Amino acid sequence: MNEYLTFSPEQTEAIGEKLAAALSDRPSAFVALYGEMGVGKTAFVRGFCRFFGVDRVKSPTYTVVNEYSGSKTVIHMDLYRLRDEDDLISVGYDDYLARKGYLLCEWSEKIPGAIPDDAIRVRIERTDGETGRRITVENRPENP
Ligand SMILES: Nc1ncnc2c1ncn2[C@@H]1O[C@H](COP(=O)(O)OP(=O)(O)OP(=O)(O)O)[C@@H](O)[C@H]1O
Ligand SMILES: [Mg+2]
Repeated sequence: MNEYLTFSPEQTEAIGEKLAAALSDRPSAFVALYGEMGVGKTAFVRGFCRFFGVDRVKSPTYTVVNEYSGSKTVIHMDLYRLRDEDDLISVGYDDYLARKGYLLCEWSEKIPGAIPDDAIRVRIERTDGETGRRITVENRPENP
């Protein structure tokens, strides 16, 4: 597990970019993001996508799924407005899971059963003041 402290959205983006670099030799990965509203999950994904040449990342809160084609495909999901696994099926979740590429999922705590066991778990918490954040990255297969 790695832990980082950030003090601006740009610093959180940089940690996202660093994770993308670390995963870039894998054909696919599932990144499950956890943390309260406005903590910086989308900022983290924005940095992750930048590594693959994708800019203009927007929150998928209302669209549920955004798909980006950079040097790799990045699927960005937000489970906030979903209730259960049936809702997930209706947005085509199984098809997204089956495809190669990267799937990043905000609000993973909403439907815990949907998160693969081998997911990389990113937790973001508030620390000091308005802009302090603690980011932990847990990659179980690498750190048994
Ligand atoms: N250290 C920091 N890291 C990330 N964002 C920060 C930080 N400090 C302040 N912010 C601000 O916090 C907000 C984070 O917004 P963001 O949309 O990334 O959150 P989120 O976790 O995706 O929220 P939601 O649950 O609504 O999707 C932005 O307004 C950003 O400017
Ligand atoms: Mg978000």
